[in-house]
Amino acid sequence: MKELNINIPVTMKQEDELTEQEKALLVEAKAATFRSYAPYSNFSVGAAALLEDGTIVSGSNQENSAYPSGICAERTTIFYANSKYPEQKVMMLCVVARDTKGQFTERPIAPCGACRQVLVETETRYNQKMQIMLYGTEGIYFIGSAKDLLPVSFDSSFL
Ligand code: THU
Repeated sequence: MKELNINIPVTMKQEDELTEQEKALLVEAKAATFRSYAPYSNFSVGAAALLEDGTIVSGSNQENSAYPSGICAERTTIFYANSKYPEQKVMMLCVVARDTKGQFTERPIAPCGACRQVLVETETRYNQKMQIMLYGTEGIYFIGSAKDLLPVSFDSSFL
């Protein structure tokens, strides 16, 4: 038997330690939470993606009375970025959430499994690691790539 250990480096920063570019991304992701449509969960998520040319696009979760038809902020944002700017690599994605009381979450928000799979696809598609920035008021996690968020992932190399 052989044991494989997978280590995933996560850096934690406070808001005052962010670069100007990270701050700009965070502002957009926070603003996007206020455009969320979340009448069922009352959990408002916003995401902002930094593209290669410096463009920032943002999106939010969009729910539906038929619950599974809704979509998370991360996929809204990535699909919008990829459909509007298909030539632009996605360099960084910032995710923010406000809880049912409307407060930004203390803990950094954790993208769901389906979103992680979509983020991995985008990395594969552009052959570009996407830095993931997960916001919480107690600290901001930085993860170097979407693949780090979904180790042992399925991608087109299996097909
Ligand atoms: N949600 C996101 O948009 N992103 C996440 O990372 C976690 C969950 C949404 C889905 C649903 O609209 C609401 O938050 C509660 O699960």
